[in-house]
Amino acid sequence: MTIELLTNKKGNKISKYIYGQFSEHLGRGIYEGLYVGEDSKIPNVNGMRTDVVEALKQIHVPVLRWPGGLFADTYHWKDGVGPKEGRKKIVNTNWGDVTEDNSFGTHEYFELLRQLGADSYVAANMGSGTIQEMAEWVEYMTMEGESPMANWRRENGQNDPWKLKFFGIGNESWGGGGNMRPEYYSDLYRQYQAFVPQYNKDEPIVKVACGPNEDDYEWTDKIMSIAGEFLDAISLHYYDLPTNTWGDGNKGDATGFPESQWDSTMVNAKKMDELVTKHSTIMDKYDPDKRVSLFVDEWGMWTNSEPGTNPGFLYQQNTIRDAMVAAITLNIFHKHSDRVRMANIAQTVNVLQAMILTDGEKMIKTPTYYVFDMYQKHMDADLVEGFGEEIENVSYTASIKNGELTVSIVNYDKDKSQDIEFDLDNKYSDIVYSKVVTADKIDSHNTFDNPDVVTEQDFDGAELSNNKVSVKMAPKSVVTITLK
Ligand code: AHR
Repeated sequence: MTIELLTNKKGNKISKYIYGQFSEHLGRGIYEGLYVGEDSKIPNVNGMRTDVVEALKQIHVPVLRWPGGLFADTYHWKDGVGPKEGRKKIVNTNWGDVTEDNSFGTHEYFELLRQLGADSYVAANMGSGTIQEMAEWVEYMTMEGESPMANWRRENGQNDPWKLKFFGIGNESWGGGGNMRPEYYSDLYRQYQAFVPQYNKDEPIVKVACGPNEDDYEWTDKIMSIAGEFLDAISLHYYDLPTNTWGDGNKGDATGFPESQWDSTMVNAKKMDELVTKHSTIMDKYDPDKRVSLFVDEWGMWTNSEPGTNPGFLYQQNTIRDAMVAAITLNIFHKHSDRVRMANIAQTVNVLQAMILTDGEKMIKTPTYYVFDMYQKHMDADLVEGFGEEIENVSYTASIKNGELTVSIVNYDKDKSQDIEFDLDNKYSDIVYSKVVTADKIDSHNTFDNPDVVTEQDFDGAELSNNKVSVKMAPKSVVTITLK
């Protein structure tokens, strides 16, 4: 199979924000996963666990969406600032009815971002919060001079304003965020967004409206037609459930699943292409110049929770199948990088398709983590178009940055290997990077006792000669190679 890569034709920039993360107050995602508190015996800096922060720094998390998700629409930010002993304890009604002690709040979020070197994406409470509460939060975070909220921030120990880069108004407002109809949501969005103060005129806050659930095309159409001129981006949520069963039904297990669920998971992963294509086409009708971005701010695999864990905590294992889903999906986002300018995999640590799992002091990296590690080469690179016959069970992407060509390939066939050749219209003299993530079994995964079953390995299956690269892809593998 041969694919021609047009390296001389400059493509869209693949925004680094496509590699964004999402962390909600949910289960052990933030508490224990990211934040253990200053007094913990787990090594930490200002409460953030050092092992997790170091691992996330290696994959250069560009942006972190917080505090939800559904939690955002019950979150009152004032509960989470000021001396910790005085912070209100509330019930997290969305996720297990556990006590939320608000020890991780706005200051802790920005401290985490500082340690990670990531940008902010804050989700406002439109479901149960007022416009005034939202406006005051923005004032608290971003006002430099004298003002009630800025003064309060200073009293609480933060002199300078933080940089609020992205601000979401409404999460899943069509469902758990308020059961709104698109017409109602659009009007409410117009009203809320009018009171988002823009103190930093040089870099206005990017306003994100609640977009559709999966294939709800009517939602996109209505939001774009009623509120399109007042928004900078619209979100899309799509999860890959092996059995396509929502609610309390059987979503499929994360490990020990039948082969048929490998296949259904791959079909579902590829559906992201159709969703993004169709939503973008609707957006084109109202916004042909593509001013408005599509942010896929929740995506990833959603399986049954691990047996014996709190089902409200959404803790699931992560296998080589997750690595396939991650790579296929990132390839799709690259292809649509003219419109998709951010994506946030759900949810970083210990929740859904996580990068990292923790158990007390122990920490492991998941197969998904290694895909994100290899794919960093594509961050902010220019997309390269490829031509050739479609290859069954193979997905690929290519990009150029600083004169280096990076190609990533996924062979998601569980049994068959594939030989693929890339024809290059430019001369490259050397393969300077070559890595693979692969495994024997369809559910191979890392555990706390065996943390290195699925990792990133050096890859020796690529050869470069006469402007051609040939790659031998094992079944169930993701490869990234860079040519100079
Ligand atoms: O990521 C878990 C949940 O999925 C989020 O809270 C919600 O927005 C979505 O339904």
